[in-house]
Amino acid sequence: MGKLAASPLDQQARTVVERLHRESKRQMLPAVLPMIRHSVTSRLRDGTWDSTQSEAGKRWLADKFVALDPEKAALCYLLCRSSGARRIVEVGTSYGVSTIYLAAAVRDNAAEDGAAQGGVVIGTEHEPGKVAAARDHLAQAGVADFVEILEGDLRETLPGVDGPIDFVLVDIWIPMAAPALRILEPELRRGALVVCDNVVSGAKEYREYLDFVRDPDGPFQSVTIPGQGGIEVSMKR
Ligand SMILES: C[S@@+](CC[C@H](N)C(=O)[O-])C[C@H]1O[C@@H](n2cnc3c(N)ncnc32)[C@H](O)[C@@H]1O
Repeated sequence: MGKLAASPLDQQARTVVERLHRESKRQMLPAVLPMIRHSVTSRLRDGTWDSTQSEAGKRWLADKFVALDPEKAALCYLLCRSSGARRIVEVGTSYGVSTIYLAAAVRDNAAEDGAAQGGVVIGTEHEPGKVAAARDHLAQAGVADFVEILEGDLRETLPGVDGPIDFVLVDIWIPMAAPALRILEPELRRGALVVCDNVVSGAKEYREYLDFVRDPDGPFQSVTIPGQGGIEVSMKR
């Protein structure tokens, strides 16, 4: 038995995500120095370490996976399965790695209810090249029928999304996290879960998002799970 639990995905989807997780990791190794350079430039020029909104940063990130860690993606699969999620929004799709986990959960929930259809993951991505590649990866994984990707800036595409939403994954450039959740919040059903990545390593940059989900008088109850950058799991009251 390995040190970590095996992937919850079926063989077809697992083969695809294993390849994509490897590609994502391989891309990041030589990227460490350029990432530091972009962050320092943003800090000096714009007063923030976050380089995702600068023109140079955007250009550099346009072909990067930045995929969710496999264990976090597997956790999302299980949370979606245990809550019977059928309507999911993914804030940040990139090449579709986490999307495969979410779509497999929707498909498996539908199958358990004896319904071949009847569930969807709504993805969001503004890089056209990533959208095309994500569609291809979803087809290879056998889950394309359960995904609609909204192509464009999520601040324009998300306001058209209706509820009731069961689950949201927030895996996006940090300045987009709070605006995205504020748009979606009214459409979340009571008990809906929201998972957001890297809230411990990026706690300062995520302050607006974290103030929103941790507000004792706000619409969420929240827990922080540290480790690997940390994730925040929030439940709509
Ligand atoms: C961290 S990556 C998502 C990774 C993905 N969840 C996965 O695990 O494979 C964030 C993605 O959000 C996209 N993005 C950033 N800002 C956006 C915006 N305003 N509207 C739509 N997509 C955006 C980026 O192009 C990037 O591909």
